[in-house]
Amino acid sequence: MTTPARIAVERVVPARRQTEGGGFSVRRPFPSPGIDQVDPFLLLDEMGPADYGPGEAVGAPDHPHRGFETVTYMLEGVFEHADSAGHRGRIEPGDVQWMTAGEGVVHSELPSREILRDGGRVHGFQLWVNLPARDKRMRPRYQELSADRIPKASTADGLARAVVVAGIALDVHAAIDTRIPILFHDWTVQPGGSVDLEIPPDFGTFAYVFSGSVQLGATGRTVRDGEMALLSPGGLLEIRKPSADAEAARFLLLGAVPLREPMARYGPFVMNTRSEIEEAFADYQAGRLGRIPAA
Ligand code: CO
Repeated sequence: MTTPARIAVERVVPARRQTEGGGFSVRRPFPSPGIDQVDPFLLLDEMGPADYGPGEAVGAPDHPHRGFETVTYMLEGVFEHADSAGHRGRIEPGDVQWMTAGEGVVHSELPSREILRDGGRVHGFQLWVNLPARDKRMRPRYQELSADRIPKASTADGLARAVVVAGIALDVHAAIDTRIPILFHDWTVQPGGSVDLEIPPDFGTFAYVFSGSVQLGATGRTVRDGEMALLSPGGLLEIRKPSADAEAARFLLLGAVPLREPMARYGPFVMNTRSEIEEAFADYQAGRLGRIPAA
């Protein structure tokens, strides 16, 4: 056994606030003018947190996807989704929907009827994960996990806890099946908490802090609310939360083996070549991605 290399923070990038879909406010670490992807991750949006009044809430009405996966992870509030494959459901706080669009779906993602009518708080994430060329035209697949079915990891002292959406954390294995090895953890680290986490050697990894601050990597670089830290390739990730800090840190940790394949991307279609993008547009316009059946 060799000692794993100590992971370093290579770069810290602030998320940008912008408006998406039907007009909801997101914090977006990437894509951005400097970072078009963190292969194989194409996009990360933190939705809200937003407090809506009655009739104010907005979402993303009918839109297509082909060639990648969309992952929705709710923290507060409820989203309702419906799509051309006939799926329909609610994503409640703590739930994950891992949708593999593959050859294509048309779907809508909206705050729940109750939130649209009465207002309420919405906070969550949407992550886009690219598919390898061999899977881009696979049949659409859904994995929906309610909060109680998502494994949780904890350090012995309980000061650092993770929701293990994908991958492994402290020997706890996720329930989600991914097309390529992926790590998706939601960490909460209390003041005084400390974790040494082994990341597979071929993984590219990043952290996105969405509350408080945390020290990451060999030099203990402080990464703050709204910042993404791009990490050096796999090894040992040191996570430290100073005991003098007042509030807990919350961050997503995401990693995967990069696909390193050619990419042609246009809006909701992510393929390998330009002609595949043109084909996706033609298929969508001809209605071949289907439409959402009436409720
Ligand atoms: Co979508």
